[in-house]
Amino acid sequence: MKKIIIAIDGFSSTGKSTLAKHLGYVYVDTGAMYRAVTLFAMQNNCIGIDFLDKEKLIKSLPSIKLSFKFNSELGFAEMYLNDVNVETEIRTLEVSGFVSRVAAISEVRSKLVEQQQEMGKEKGIVMDGRDIGTVVFPNAELKIFMTAGADTRAQRRFDELQAKGDLVSYDEVLKNVVERDYIDTHRDDSPLVMADDAIEVDNSYLDRKEQFDVVLELVNEVINSL
Ligand code: DC
Repeated sequence: MKKIIIAIDGFSSTGKSTLAKHLGYVYVDTGAMYRAVTLFAMQNNCIGIDFLDKEKLIKSLPSIKLSFKFNSELGFAEMYLNDVNVETEIRTLEVSGFVSRVAAISEVRSKLVEQQQEMGKEKGIVMDGRDIGTVVFPNAELKIFMTAGADTRAQRRFDELQAKGDLVSYDEVLKNVVERDYIDTHRDDSPLVMADDAIEVDNSYLDRKEQFDVVLELVNEVINSL
């Protein structure tokens, strides 16, 4: 069967790695890459509570190696920063608090976009992010734009963090979600916008299985039309 590129942008959602697995496709969570660069910036004194040393981070970019390694027990690829598994560290609220500022730096974006385009060369990929249908793969065969209310997304993140034993409050998580939405949609370079040819899916009231079914139907329509 012909393989395609599936670009999923918009606000966070669930079940995309399951979809990739079902199709025998590679799943790439590009948010994890921006989070890993942010973690690097935190570990190397390029970012802190009241500063962001852009120049220092930009100079360090060549020494940042990002890779994904599939974990068969978990069923998804984990993020590695300079060959160290950082999957847990990149999901903290602290990283979430800084990531949008790091993701607004053009030099960071061009490095990651180049790597993402390389990963999609063979097609057969589900790539999830904010600029996949607009910048990374403007010719993707299927573009989906996921939306959901900020409160629904905050609740999902809060549940995830709580399940991991992170002591955060719902209000903190909601504040972070709203702040990131603002920065992501207002930055100069590749702001989060829906591509003209994307299909919007509001997943506020869809559970994992329902989201999976909606997206799979869209995928089948595209594949059958090729
Ligand atoms: O999907 P996420 O919440 O893990 O993404 C973390 C941040 O990375 C998000 O606030 C915006 C940024 N991001 C981006 O700018 N471009 C992408 N393709 C993916 C994520």
